[in-house]
Amino acid sequence: MPVDTAKKKVNRVNTQTTKMALANTDETTRTERARAKQGIDAPTAVLVGATGGLGHALARLLAAEGFRIVLAARREQNAAVVTDRSDGSAIYLRADVTDPASLQELATAAFEHLGRIDAVVNLAGISPRKPLEDYTTADVDALMAVNVKGPIYLTQAFLPRLLKQSGGAVVVHLGGAMDGRVALPFMSAYAATRGALASYVQGANRELAGTDVVLSFFGPVPSNTESESPYFDMWRKMGVALCEPDVVAREILATIRQRRRAHVMGGGLLKMLTLANAVSPSIADAIGLRRFGKLIKEHSPR
Ligand SMILES: NC(=O)c1ccc[n+]([C@@H]2O[C@H](COP(=O)([O-])OP(=O)(O)OC[C@H]3O[C@@H](n4cnc5c(N)ncnc54)[C@H](OP(=O)(O)O)[C@@H]3O)[C@@H](O)[C@H]2O)c1
Repeated sequence: MPVDTAKKKVNRVNTQTTKMALANTDETTRTERARAKQGIDAPTAVLVGATGGLGHALARLLAAEGFRIVLAARREQNAAVVTDRSDGSAIYLRADVTDPASLQELATAAFEHLGRIDAVVNLAGISPRKPLEDYTTADVDALMAVNVKGPIYLTQAFLPRLLKQSGGAVVVHLGGAMDGRVALPFMSAYAATRGALASYVQGANRELAGTDVVLSFFGPVPSNTESESPYFDMWRKMGVALCEPDVVAREILATIRQRRRAHVMGGGLLKMLTLANAVSPSIADAIGLRRFGKLIKEHSPR
């Protein structure tokens, strides 16, 4: 498929998906705003990795939608700066997803502050992209610690109390673009962590069937954030339109409200490649992933 045609398709479906997310936002906002006016009944969320490009956008959106929020990441930060609001709707706590004790402390403090928790969103993640032989032991250890062990420890820290509270909750883990199982060249070790997360979420949901708690794998499209900026040119050449963080934030909000087990963003091209890859990687190669691979290779010279 020519790049221009693919790009138009991606843009068209991105717009459709965004309209759906917006419609859902409008529909449920009135109820949540009404709850928010009552103070303690406002919807609540914990965002871990809240100071990055996507976390920042989500924090501002949830604050504007009347959520009471606990924000967390490793470095010191001010909740009012992250949310652009100084009405006390958010507090900021330091936490490290690689440290289970720090996550237990976060969970205890978050339940104390919020009372009940409707959503935990994990936006902490790293994505070093390198040739196979260049991933260092430090890269691999960090990838496993942040992208694989982090979501497991975070889920474990919150789950017992989420199961006990009435009404349940959703724990949203951000993965990579597509469904976590599409592994592109020069992203091998990174892709392995996203595949592991997708399997973890799947297994957890089967185990949690019959409860009110749901885990979600959220696959953002490549977005206009600082962390993704080294790859803007590569995505452009591949015909994948960059998404604004506010759009991703609205889709995460829709995922929270609908408690979706998986939400893979992206237009028709990305969705088609994701589906084809799940059925047969060689079909996915033939219809587009091989071309993607060549472009990534050009962008990542050895
Ligand atoms: N942006 C995109 O285009 C894109 C596309 C696909 C997937 N994603 C994924 O979506 C997630 C969010 O993306 P982003 O662009 O917002 O990333 P980002 O800008 O790099 O932000 C990452 C956030 O996680 C925090 N963090 C990092 N390590 C942590 C740790 N060990 N414990 C707790 N917090 C930690 C960072 O703050 P501190 O350093 O202060 O801890 C920061 O708040 C990531 O998993 C990313 O890989 C992003």
